[in-house]
Amino acid sequence: MSQALTMTTGFDKKRVAQQFSKAATTYARHNELQRDCAQTLLSQLGPNAGKLLDAGCGPAAMTAALLPHCSEYLGVDLAPGMLNQAQQHFPQQQWLLADIERLPLAAGQFDTVVANLVVQWCDDLTQVLTELLRVTKPGGRVLCTTVLAPSMEPLMSTWRNLDGGTHSNKFLSPQACEQSLRSLPQNLATQAQVRANNFRYWYPSVLQMLRDLKGIGANYTVRNATPALTAGGLAQLELSMRQHALAEPGKLPMDWTIGVIELDKSKT
Ligand SMILES: C[S@@+](CC[C@H](N)C(=O)[O-])C[C@H]1O[C@@H](n2cnc3c(N)ncnc32)[C@H](O)[C@@H]1O
Repeated sequence: MSQALTMTTGFDKKRVAQQFSKAATTYARHNELQRDCAQTLLSQLGPNAGKLLDAGCGPAAMTAALLPHCSEYLGVDLAPGMLNQAQQHFPQQQWLLADIERLPLAAGQFDTVVANLVVQWCDDLTQVLTELLRVTKPGGRVLCTTVLAPSMEPLMSTWRNLDGGTHSNKFLSPQACEQSLRSLPQNLATQAQVRANNFRYWYPSVLQMLRDLKGIGANYTVRNATPALTAGGLAQLELSMRQHALAEPGKLPMDWTIGVIELDKSKT
């Protein structure tokens, strides 16, 4: 595994990497949303994806499904723990420890770049998509999914109403996401579009929701100043969330808005 990590402002990349590394061995038991989003990306891939970059590959969650589509594969991730898992599962593939906002890779070398639920961990969507387009060949494609607002609801608003704290990162609205695509350099992408998909999952308890978020490593927030959840606080949150358990008696919903982004790199 080769290495190239640099720091940028906003997200504390070291903490993001640590959080995801800690979750590397539990990830596959908690990643239902990630698997559903991966299916969405795979359905758009086509049989000849050529040389492919899996940006933010995690523990190689999509690798088995991607390999039949591509002639060459490279998985990149910020978290060493994730890449260790990836390497154990697929020792014959290539893995690179790097920040996808500053890839230590030459321009114009991938036919296809996929990034499943990773670009929301980057500070500037336009900037990271520009970087992914930079390493894409002329005429190639970039396919991403990302978390948009509103997401992790009604948990986050219920929790905020109880203690005034912010317990998730701020997600772009679908409109702000479209604006980020319009800000891409015009000579890079001939086509840039996003569509929003809604996903709902049902949970037996708030505790189980929080376990899933922690289990995939998504329990990092930029401002880590919110008070720790006490047993009393959890009981109060559970009680407040019960008002949402109407459609499926006894179960609590968690709603996500996922942006599916498709970019075509210009041919020249
Ligand atoms: C939710 S997981 C998605 C993993 C995988 N793409 C999947 O389909 O399951 C997000 C991954 O992005 C990685 N990540 C977050 N920020 C990153 C960055 N700036 N550069 C590279 N990887 C990053 C995390 O370490 C984590 O493995």
